[in-house]
Amino acid sequence: MRTLIRGGTVVTAGDTARADVLIDGETVSAIGRGLEATADRVIDASDRYVMPGGIDAHTHMDMPFGGTFSADDFESGTAAAAWGGTTTIVDFAIQDFGESLQAGFERWMAKATGKAHVDYGFHMIIREVNDQTLGGMDALIGEGVTSFKLFMAYPGVFMLDDASIFRAMQRTSDNGGLIMMHAENGGAIDVLVRRYLDEGRTEPINHALTRPAAMEGEATHRAVALARLAGVAVYIVHLSSRDALSAVVEARDRGAAAFAETCPQYLFLSQDDLSRPGFEGAKYVCSPPLRPRDHQEDLWNGLVQDDLQIVSTDHCPFDYKDQKVLGRGDFSKIPNGLPGVEDRYTVLFDGGVTAGRISLNRFVELVATAPARMFGLYPRKGTIAPGSDADIVVFDPAAERVLSASTHHMRVDYSCFEGMRVRGRPEVVMQRGEVLVAGDQFHGRPGQGRFLKRGPFPG
Ligand code: URP
Ligand code: ZN
Ligand code: ZN
Repeated sequence: MRTLIRGGTVVTAGDTARADVLIDGETVSAIGRGLEATADRVIDASDRYVMPGGIDAHTHMDMPFGGTFSADDFESGTAAAAWGGTTTIVDFAIQDFGESLQAGFERWMAKATGKAHVDYGFHMIIREVNDQTLGGMDALIGEGVTSFKLFMAYPGVFMLDDASIFRAMQRTSDNGGLIMMHAENGGAIDVLVRRYLDEGRTEPINHALTRPAAMEGEATHRAVALARLAGVAVYIVHLSSRDALSAVVEARDRGAAAFAETCPQYLFLSQDDLSRPGFEGAKYVCSPPLRPRDHQEDLWNGLVQDDLQIVSTDHCPFDYKDQKVLGRGDFSKIPNGLPGVEDRYTVLFDGGVTAGRISLNRFVELVATAPARMFGLYPRKGTIAPGSDADIVVFDPAAERVLSASTHHMRVDYSCFEGMRVRGRPEVVMQRGEVLVAGDQFHGRPGQGRFLKRGPFPG
């Protein structure tokens, strides 16, 4: 099957040019002006941008958390991703206590196989560091799982001590893996949580007040210092505050290989949302928490200056009606996480490019090219170039719409961007040469997405 995308403006991280794109089978075969090619299908991209399919390097489909599971599984969550212009996700497999990393990986493979609409890879969450799991890291790298998330928060659930973190980091200096860090000081936060609950301060806003930005800054500083000592790179996930950003900037200025992502919720929402009337604030509970609005400008600057390299979603949806309510009367029991996999591409385009904060090319870099490079998928994914997978979004920058749970495709009963008016719409979404979305039509099939064996960290 040959497809010609004609007359659009092709945007990559490096270039913007009027050009046609020829796709032969699963890959891009040619890019050029006025391509004279016979094709089985022609897509008119006049007045449209032709951009790489998004790569969301931080999702949690079908994830157990707080006595429940995130509401999207690999079928519903990847369909929503495709609707939103994301054609690759990297999800987090989890090691159970007493279990090998391999067993955790296989469990997540079983969750995704036959269900995913878009291509997917896995990071591995390590809960226990010992000789067996360190060996398991090496083995997983051979399987294409080349990044490992560690937690400095959630004592008794995910949190590791500094010695364990340092051992895992040292291992990546030998095996080519990358440590991804959830950087919040879980010990201090836990003390605050208990005190607030003892004082009867149970509403959702207290989730934010007991997880202050200073404790994200402290943990980020510690993570970066440990990585420097181990002589390895570190990647801070879901960075939310200027305190954490300062720790990253300071390290990078000293030449450290410190990298970080932020997420749309930290760019567009704020701590005020946790104070919404009644129990509504529970919809906005995630960790790290949403910050006071004045942190947002620092995060945008971080994206402009490349102190933040990637925008991922941390998509981890829980229904308001039957899941977030688990924390009514005790904010610490509200399942942590927000929906976002469908919205990222457009809200970053609208709030970033249209609002004049970032260039078109930087947008593509943040949502596709940088995640591909960071997580061993480039140049197969993350760009439009001869030989690359034909994962392509034909994007209408002028289409106006209002984001809402009543129209989104994520399997969750609310939108944290409810009522937000945006410009921009992924009009045609292709994965490896097949059309997943065309206007209002969905053509994807469960099981069409393939597992991606990722390469080692390039640094
Ligand atoms: O609140 C969040 N972020 N939930 C998902 C788990 C995590 O820490 O990424
Ligand atoms: Zn986390
Ligand atoms: Zn997460």
